[in-house]
Amino acid sequence: MIRKLRSRSPEETKAWGRRLAPLLFPGAVIGLEGELGAGKTCFVQGLAAGFGLDEREITSPTFTLVAEHYRGRMPLYHIDLYRLEGGEITELGLEEYFGGRGVSVIEWFRFLPPGTVSEYLLITFSFLGPEARELTLSARGVAYARVVEALGTEGSWQDE
Ligand SMILES: Nc1ncnc2c1ncn2[C@@H]1O[C@H](COP(=O)(O)OP(=O)(O)OP(=O)(O)O)[C@@H](O)[C@H]1O
Ligand SMILES: [Mg+2]
Repeated sequence: MIRKLRSRSPEETKAWGRRLAPLLFPGAVIGLEGELGAGKTCFVQGLAAGFGLDEREITSPTFTLVAEHYRGRMPLYHIDLYRLEGGEITELGLEEYFGGRGVSVIEWFRFLPPGTVSEYLLITFSFLGPEARELTLSARGVAYARVVEALGTEGSWQDE
């Protein structure tokens, strides 16, 4: 199940995150891909707002690989693997977040060793212009295919 969404502003990217939030379930894993400044953290801010968190809690601090947010509807684990050197990853104990009570959202998902999670929703951000982005949602596993289905097509490329 693959679906392409478009965004024309940071606000629109956040709106997609807010819209995804209520569809997620405990133990859900969301992988984010895309180059620097593509909008991954921006999307997580929207997701956080959808969980009832203050989006300003979501930042990209230099040395934090995992930020845990517990004040929302479900725990939100914001993981950023960009600064991770190979090898360190096993020391993070990420498996404890996956399949737990909360939702894990992982920037630079490609740095996760293959096979760490078998089912997840991958969202790849690409640049279409200075403020335009394409979000490609790709579901691995039926639970995530349902999520993508439930997100609907309104506002996606399929409407064109
Ligand atoms: N449509 C858009 N969606 C998201 N961000 C946008 C959009 N248009 C412009 N921007 C800008 O692009 C930047 C996105 O930054 P953000 O931190 O979300 O990127 P990132 O993918 O997390 O990068 P990094 O890999 O460095 O963590 C912000 O400055 C934001 O204002
Ligand atoms: Mg980021």
